Parts: sequence; C-alpha cells; structure tokens
Amino acid sequence: MTTELRKTTDQFHMALRVVMMPRDANQYGTIFGGVILSYIDQAGFIEARRHGTHRWVTVSVDRVEFRAPVQIGDVVSFLTITERTGTSSVKVRIRVEAERDLTGEKVHVTEASLTMVSVDASCKPIPFSSPPTVAASIPGPPTP
Ligand SMILES: CC(C)(COP(=O)(O)OP(=O)(O)OC[C@H]1O[C@@H](n2cnc3c(N)ncnc32)[C@H](O)[C@@H]1OP(=O)(O)O)[C@@H](O)C(=O)NCCC(=O)NCCS
Repeated sequence: MTTELRKTTDQFHMALRVVMMPRDANQYGTIFGGVILSYIDQAGFIEARRHGTHRWVTVSVDRVEFRAPVQIGDVVSFLTITERTGTSSVKVRIRVEAERDLTGEKVHVTEASLTMVSVDASCKPIPFSSPPTVAASIPGPPTP
C-alpha cells in the first residue's frame, strides 16, 4: 500500500548542515554540483532511516535543478520530509538552502526527490516496518 503524506515547509526535518570548504569548489570558486548531490543522497538516507533501522539504498533521483550557486564558506542545510511511503520504499523530498558566509543571507539552492529502498544483506527489498536488521558494526571499548 502506498501512502501519500501532506507536507508544509515547517514539517521538514534538519537532516544535515555542512560548511562548504575550498576542497569542494571548482576552478571558478563555486561548489561542484556533485558535492551537493552527494549530500542530498546522505540526507535522503537520514530521512529514510527514520522509518526503520536497515540498509537503505537509493533507487531513483528525480530531476535536480540548481537555482543558485553555493560558495566556499556557505553553511548549507539539507531539510527533508517523507513524501510517500510504500512497503520497502520511501520517497523523500530534500530542500537545500545556503546561508551566505559574509552576509548570513539565506538562498534556496535546489530541491530533489529520492526514492530509498530498505534491503537485507543480499540487497533484497524488505518491508521497512520490519524489526531492525542492522546491528552496530563497530565494536565498543573493551569492558574492564
Ligand atoms: C533497489 C533495488 C533493491 C530494488 O530491487 P527491485 O527488484 O526493483 O525490487 P522491487 O521491484 O521489489 O521494488 C522494491 C521497491 O522499490 C520500488 N522501486 C523499484 N524501482 C524503482 C524506481 N526506479 N523508482 C522508484 N521506486 C522504485 C518499488 O516500487 C518497490 O516499492 P514498495 O516496496 O514500497 O512497493 C534494486 O533495484 C537495487 O539494488 N538497485 C541498486 C541500488 C543501489 O545500489 N543504489 C546505489 C547506487 S551507487
């Protein structure tokens, strides 16, 4: 069953905030579009994980249009909301805003929609409502 969810701007979650560094910039001093796309993907995962602790993979990304450049030093926010839920998939909307380093002005950079699918260890889709399938993979400190 697919469920369409209502959304307004104030229902978005703050998934990620990142300061753009010189290493992220092209030869013109603005940030590579691919860097922003990579953070969009991470933000999609963070939103999807709210629905279940599983492996999540990106199955599709809708058209992305950049409305304004991102500059070195900008604080970029990735705001997310779930637009639709299915059985193993969720469709996530990501809104990207840049806060200019020197002026603090907020600029709407782009929006994107991603579909994420919860999968098992063999990459087979599983219902995201199932109990957690991912355990901590990094061992904790040794107990005395
Ligand atoms: C995601 C993946 C597991 C889906 O496998 P599949 O055999 O298509 O699975 P299904 O047909 O059972 O679909 C599973 C869910 O994905 C959804 N889905 C599949 N293809 C889709 C597409 N192109 N766009 C949107 N949703 C899609 C289905 O609607 C279904 O949703 P539901 O369970 O909520 O109803 C498989 O395509 C895959 O492994 N893709 C690679 C993912 C990946 O590695 N991404 C990173 C690339 S670097």
